[in-house]
Amino acid sequence: MDIDTTGVDHVLSTTRAVRRKLDLDRPVSPEVLETCLRLSTYAPSPGNQQSWRWIVVRDPWSRKQLGALFREVGRAYLAGVRAELGAAVAHPPVRRMVGSVQHLIDVIDRVPVLVVPCVQGTPPSGNAEAASFYGGIYPAVWSFQLALRSRGLGTVLTTLHLQREREAAEILGLPADVTQVGLLPVAHTTTTDFRPPARRPLGTVAFLDTWGRPLT
Ligand SMILES: Cc1cc2nc3c(=O)[nH]c(=O)nc-3n(C[C@H](O)[C@H](O)[C@H](O)COP(=O)(O)O)c2cc1C
Repeated sequence: MDIDTTGVDHVLSTTRAVRRKLDLDRPVSPEVLETCLRLSTYAPSPGNQQSWRWIVVRDPWSRKQLGALFREVGRAYLAGVRAELGAAVAHPPVRRMVGSVQHLIDVIDRVPVLVVPCVQGTPPSGNAEAASFYGGIYPAVWSFQLALRSRGLGTVLTTLHLQREREAAEILGLPADVTQVGLLPVAHTTTTDFRPPARRPLGTVAFLDTWGRPLT
């Protein structure tokens, strides 16, 4: 099959962190979620262990409980950001980002589905081991995000609630040897017209042969 690189590149460059444009009123079908999760299972994992586990939270009571945790941590986080940045919060890109995070905090329990990616295991110490532990799931999380985007849905990977992970684990009925690595609010998006975001120039982040020698 010929690969449509234009379409693939478009999805790769426009799968944004969606918060304000989550459609809170449109239901998400079990089928589309299942398809996107199935696609995520083709992601690589160390030794092909596939230690990813996913909790798809639809139950209103559980979403409300998780939402309350998310909101408490999020409000404290944003208060810290505002205090640290001071007047710089008014800088348009910062204001947009803070406003977007605030919006998600406000509506989190109204998002139709919350997906909690987990790893079967507990975080190791040591860089190599940690890289394998978290690297065993984040590629799958990103595949899930790309699959959602290409079907008119959106999400954002968040880690805020992990500061209260024990309480979240109780809500989700997680065994002690299962580790949450994030929370993804999933919904259809109110637009599909997303643009590639501004990023640091490649020449400042990718080097040729030795640190500091620009690739381009
Ligand atoms: C590991 C990780 C943790 C993140 N945690 C949060 C979070 O707790 N809350 C949030 O609103 N966004 C979170 N984000 C989303 C980032 O803010 C977002 O990816 C970044 O701003 C780029 O957004 P853009 O692709 O739309 O430009 C996280 C992203 C990653 C990769």
